[in-house]
Amino acid sequence: MNIVLGVTGGIAAYKSVALARLLVEAGHEVHVVPTDDALRFVGKPTWEAISRHPVTTSVHEDVPEVRHVALGQRADLVVIAPATANTLARMTAGLADDLLGTTLLATRAPVLVAPAMHTEMWQHAATQDNVAILRRRGVLFIGPESGRLTGNDSGPGRMSEPEQIFARVAELLADSDSDSLAQDLGGQDLGTQDPGAQNPEPTTALSADTSGPLAGLRILVSAGGTREPIDPVRFIGNRSSGRQGVAVAAAAAARGAKVVLLSANIDDSVLAEVADNPAVRVVPVGTAAELESAAHAGSAGAEVVIMAAAVSDYRVAGVSEEKIRKEDSDGPPTLTLLENPDILAGLVRDRRPGQVLVGFAAETAADEVELMERGRRKLARKGVDLLAVNSVGWSEGFESSDNTLHIIEASGALVERISGTKQQTADALLDAVAAVLR
Ligand SMILES: Cc1cc2nc3c(=O)[nH]c(=O)nc-3n(C[C@H](O)[C@H](O)[C@H](O)COP(=O)(O)O)c2cc1C
Repeated sequence: MNIVLGVTGGIAAYKSVALARLLVEAGHEVHVVPTDDALRFVGKPTWEAISRHPVTTSVHEDVPEVRHVALGQRADLVVIAPATANTLARMTAGLADDLLGTTLLATRAPVLVAPAMHTEMWQHAATQDNVAILRRRGVLFIGPESGRLTGNDSGPGRMSEPEQIFARVAELLADSDSDSLAQDLGGQDLGTQDPGAQNPEPTTALSADTSGPLAGLRILVSAGGTREPIDPVRFIGNRSSGRQGVAVAAAAAARGAKVVLLSANIDDSVLAEVADNPAVRVVPVGTAAELESAAHAGSAGAEVVIMAAAVSDYRVAGVSEEKIRKEDSDGPPTLTLLENPDILAGLVRDRRPGQVLVGFAAETAADEVELMERGRRKLARKGVDLLAVNSVGWSEGFESSDNTLHIIEASGALVERISGTKQQTADALLDAVAAVLR
């Protein structure tokens, strides 16, 4: 595979030498594209020797082959490691005054970014806004991790280890080798350049309804619950089993839709309902940030987006690289939480014309009046076409095969209150979607 390895001006550039070596040894064609500042940290001869290709930062070399266009077009994947705060800002603005900037604009390949910087720079609102914008455009992120930084500092901002990045690259290439989420939904192209190499979209299941209002539509469904790591063994999660979202995916496929299911930590026994369905492609996601990237990439090609996954509102600042041990601390640790982006609001903001957006709201409420009030407030805040509100508590809503949904439309009116199996509630929801489409 052709990989462009962008390297920018941080101390972690030295770690990318190991990454380049791993990629070359795995048999990939690696073209290193450093920034001028990156070469202050690791020089050109190192990159040329490791990658076995000439290295330049400039668009004015190899002009006859228009190097930036050639590199961008030929790439199967672009990896930027380390990515400085400056480069993230430049990517957000689409600046193209060096070889890396122009290559990034000229490529349709997936872009994986491994940020590295001091904690203050990483947490600065400017950097976080840039990251959010890039994620929305489908740029993929790995890290940063929490750990030792330059000098005596430590905290979030450390570049992921070369082996971690290498493993992620292998996953991404395996994905683009088969079929990509974007191709499945015909949207934002995260995959290969050669249309002949693209696999077909998910086919419609043989027994599916091919005449109803959902037949042939591309539907993105999220299900399950996100997990936010605290350390390598612990996470903050929720009790969502994914049953309701999986039932929606299965019901949509039965109505002839092509479905991509973003599966957040769903047990295989629950996924079994769609495992052999050719019309459903399951894409695993873990954290809210991963779900956000996948949702934005997938929604670009979907006529209907149904976000049923329970997403953590917060993530942990300073995820520990090692297991937090009781014997190493003076007392109970304090977890600092950072707010996660509002995925549904972002999808509404970036929606394509005519796209139907459906949200879910799991609420604890004293009675149905309070439940509906909470639902209507959420509907107004989010701006979705339909909101499916369900009551949750210690013993209701989760991990059961039954559910009660209050389906509210954009005006705030109750479309239907449906109690039954999760398959029945899924069908009622899709009836409401079909009505909005009409
Ligand atoms: C010793 C040193 C280490 C640096 N490390 C980082 C870093 O890890 N992350 C970062 O964002 N900037 C870092 N910088 C600042 C960048 O080098 C600077 O913002 C530069 O303009 C980045 O240019 P580039 O993004 O075009 O490579 C460092 C600067 C110095 C002098």
